Amino acid sequence: MALADPVVGSKSFAAVAINCAAKAGEWIKTKLGNYQQLDLKMSSHDLVTEVDKGSERLIRGLIGTHFPNHSFLGEEGVEPGPEASAKALEDVREAEYLWIVDPIDGTTNFVHGFPFFVVSIALAHRGEVILGVIYDPSKDELFIAEKGKGAYVHGKPIEVSKEDTLQSSLVATGFPAEQRYALPLNMKGIQHLAPKVRNIRSAGSAALHLAYVAAGRLSGFWEIGLNSWDLAAGALLIQESGGRVTDTEGAEYHLGVRNVVASNGRIHDDLIKELREAADNPS
Ligand code: IPD
Ligand code: CA
Ligand code: CA
Repeated sequence: MALADPVVGSKSFAAVAINCAAKAGEWIKTKLGNYQQLDLKMSSHDLVTEVDKGSERLIRGLIGTHFPNHSFLGEEGVEPGPEASAKALEDVREAEYLWIVDPIDGTTNFVHGFPFFVVSIALAHRGEVILGVIYDPSKDELFIAEKGKGAYVHGKPIEVSKEDTLQSSLVATGFPAEQRYALPLNMKGIQHLAPKVRNIRSAGSAALHLAYVAAGRLSGFWEIGLNSWDLAAGALLIQESGGRVTDTEGAEYHLGVRNVVASNGRIHDDLIKELREAADNPS
């Protein structure tokens, strides 16, 4: 099928993604404070509940109904840890159509009833992200971007913020679950950047932070050790709202990026430069 005509049956890719995110998000909300089983994955900082698994099942089932020949990469279908994630991505990366799903991004928040978690759904065509949907059920905010068509929340176009210095920037990051490499490196970045930016936020959902960069609510975001399902939808949202997404070395975003820098574009080079200095600091 031609990329220009992304319609199977009567439903477009975007309509299916919106439907999946909305249905899963509403269901997750009904389970807030009400989950039955909490398990640990890679470490005591990496949580999963039956609601994460149920959300992924629901989304996978709906997508499979509409697009039975498409490939699917969901967090809960992959063994924990960076090696297994990288391998799972490599196995499907070049698929004609690949859906990339984080059924709850911000599980720790979900578990604690902290209303900052989302469903993140992206569609890639031969390795290039062409659709991204991020749904925040707590605020009933749905962010959507299609390649070349801009980014929107509730049908209103969004654009990145205008800050052009780190000093005037509000940036965000995370505290990665992987403790040997990712967490210490991220901590170096926090320590180095805190005095140089207006302030730093860390609210516990990489995908929602990316959506906030796209919507101009944050000037930038970085985190070490993320996975394709944390990033794919948010990266397209930012690109389509005028921002920039690279790895920490400055290479443009692709599905394999794990160490991400995302911004309004204006502060991007400065952010990368400071993160490099932070990483090079031996202490
Ligand atoms: C996590 C969140 C968190 C980030 C972690 C991710 P999960 O995803 O995005 O903000 O700091 O690195 O793993 O486990 O809630 O899907
Ligand atoms: Ca995640
Ligand atoms: Ca998740």
